[in-house]
Amino acid sequence: MDKIVALCKRRGLIFPASEIYGGIANTYDYGHYGVLLKRNVVDAWWDAMLQERDDVVALDSAIIQHPKTWESSGHLAGFTDPLVDCKTCKRRFRADHLAEARENPDSQPEIRCGKRPSKLPGETEECELTEPREFNLMFETAIGPIQGGGQRVFLRPETAQGIFLDFKTVLTFVRRKPPFGIAQVGKSFRNEITPGNFIFRTLEFEQMEMEFFVPPDQADEWYDHWKQARFEWYVELGLRADHLRLRDHDADELSHYSSATADVEYLFPIGWSELEGIANRGDFDLKAHAAGSGKAIEVVEQDGTRYVPHVIEPAAGVGRSVLAFLADAYDEEDLGDGDIRTVLRLHPRLAPVKVAILPLVKKDGQPELAAEVQALLKKRMQTEYDEGGSIGKRYRRQDEIGTPWCVTIDHQSLEDRTVTLRDRDSLAQERIAIDDLGELLSGRLAGPWSSPKSAG
Ligand code: GAP
Repeated sequence: MDKIVALCKRRGLIFPASEIYGGIANTYDYGHYGVLLKRNVVDAWWDAMLQERDDVVALDSAIIQHPKTWESSGHLAGFTDPLVDCKTCKRRFRADHLAEARENPDSQPEIRCGKRPSKLPGETEECELTEPREFNLMFETAIGPIQGGGQRVFLRPETAQGIFLDFKTVLTFVRRKPPFGIAQVGKSFRNEITPGNFIFRTLEFEQMEMEFFVPPDQADEWYDHWKQARFEWYVELGLRADHLRLRDHDADELSHYSSATADVEYLFPIGWSELEGIANRGDFDLKAHAAGSGKAIEVVEQDGTRYVPHVIEPAAGVGRSVLAFLADAYDEEDLGDGDIRTVLRLHPRLAPVKVAILPLVKKDGQPELAAEVQALLKKRMQTEYDEGGSIGKRYRRQDEIGTPWCVTIDHQSLEDRTVTLRDRDSLAQERIAIDDLGELLSGRLAGPWSSPKSAG
């Protein structure tokens, strides 16, 4: 994890927020390459939900909803973590995490209730834990100009509730009946007090959530469908299948709304952890909002029969996915003689920059031809022009941000309009005609890809 964090900072992908003030807990900013990577992950998710299917529609609901939303959804009463404080080391823990860490120290390496050295040499003061207290994770704020007054509201802790509130409205304009889904991507907020492990757990985070509404008798079938579909999405985007697994929740792990949940888990540097949850939420939410608002939320069939649909929910985190893709892609290749190449072997579709255009020297017409090549390619894909430093250093810089291809313009390019195309993973170099580059790279970008790390 330390190496990934260092690389992200070094290359400006992701770094601590408010750093000039010493940072703020579990909060990160995304720089240029981080924004591009994150955007590619979100685009791939939208493509899988909208472009590649015709039974899901999009929504962008508000972050601040009517406060009754959270009463009805059960978040006000039930969205809590059991917290304990250690009076000795002054740290705060989730009671369930601490219990798990005690049972299996490798499962939760970040959790240590640290005994303090005592004043007597060689001795430590024992941990002294308080009784667990339930702590609500929602951030609270107020609408209105009067300090301490105004209407008490909450920043949403999940995007899902906006979808349930809008279900009836959406139903009227999509002109379809269940099974169909409503998808949305947006920020959610949770007052997480436990260690974040970089972007694994942050106070604000983007979620990619889809609520799939089905007739009750089809719920089991669609639950299985979405478990499989979501697992495969990660594999298609290059995560090694042996670093992914589907894990069904035990009954005592289920959220207050769920009758069955499975997590897609990834083998993060901190161990196997949740990447995405797929839950069978039944009719819990629609019924709760119908009761809370006093308005019927139902589907009416042509023959007049009415029912409350059940909901299957795949809910993923953008930052957590980005971390999994980074962890899976990070590689150090030994090129011999102590030369280690650090490379992000990202799926080309996710790579922030697809192709770097590098004139070998800053003279003899090479920068001008390089600019021409870039103009040719930039309409098709994200490109980057770089003429600073030795060619070797420029290749390494691109390797570290995961650029799958580098195009080098040299003296021969000016004579025969060919360039060298370098492949990030194999390091193979081919001579390609400038006029063929666009088609060739677009084809490779759209083609299948699997991580070279799987083979070795
Ligand atoms: N609507 C269901 C729901 O929110 P969840 O398992 O609490 O379920 C879904 O969250 C996903 O959102 C998680 O699998 C994770 O990827 C992401 N997520 C949740 N809390 C997060 C946090 N504090 N920081 C980063 N990502 C988080």
